[in-house]
Amino acid sequence: MNPFIVVAMDGGAATGKSSSSKIISEKYNWMHIDTGSHYRTVTRALIDQGLSVQDLPTKKLDDTIKSLEPSTKIVADRVASLMINERLYQSEHLRSEKVNNVVSDFAAEPIIRYFLLNYQRNLVPFAKENGYSGIVMEGRDIGSVVLPDADLRFFLHADLDARKKRREKEGIADEVEKRDKMDSSRKVAPLVCVNGAISIDSGIHSLEEVVQIICDKIEEYPS
Ligand code: CDP
Repeated sequence: MNPFIVVAMDGGAATGKSSSSKIISEKYNWMHIDTGSHYRTVTRALIDQGLSVQDLPTKKLDDTIKSLEPSTKIVADRVASLMINERLYQSEHLRSEKVNNVVSDFAAEPIIRYFLLNYQRNLVPFAKENGYSGIVMEGRDIGSVVLPDADLRFFLHADLDARKKRREKEGIADEVEKRDKMDSSRKVAPLVCVNGAISIDSGIHSLEEVVQIICDKIEEYPS
């Protein structure tokens, strides 16, 4: 295998990106980066600073973004988690209904995307410096915008019913369909399956099968 391999994993809400990325990062001991959690963290930090969707886009947003200092904490050996002004937000704060309801509005703002784009691209050298032999970065625009030169790009999709059921099982109130529509139709970095990405239907394949398809591609990848 390559000395350092970059895997981009994109897909809509509840397509199993996080579950498969976690298994793959553990199997190869790579750094795992969940960019959805970045958008959730920034959204939460902005809400905590008193911003709401009514402030999108305004000077108040521009000024508040400038006051946010990103840094990274490696959690559970390989998960690169975004901290804002040295605060690490817990999952229950990031995956709450409050954040689910507005995260796609915040994520459509170019200033927020640009802030995170720089941060996310810098995670590649950060992973190398920290001795990892690869990364798996998951999100909506990784293969299209953040890391278009990734060694392997995957796109996960599944029918809406399968995805809604997945969220219901987790007991989370989440309007998956509404978020997907917003994410796919926004002007900047919409959710798309780019040419050259390997598309996998996670509605018809089990998690184990999805992981196997991805691992086969990784292991076939020329070194
Ligand atoms: O877990 P789930 O797939 O439902 O969502 P997520 O990956 O946590 O992402 C939350 C939201 O962040 C998405 O609905 C998008 O609006 C936004 N996002 C984005 O715009 N670009 C990314 N690369 C990742 C997430």
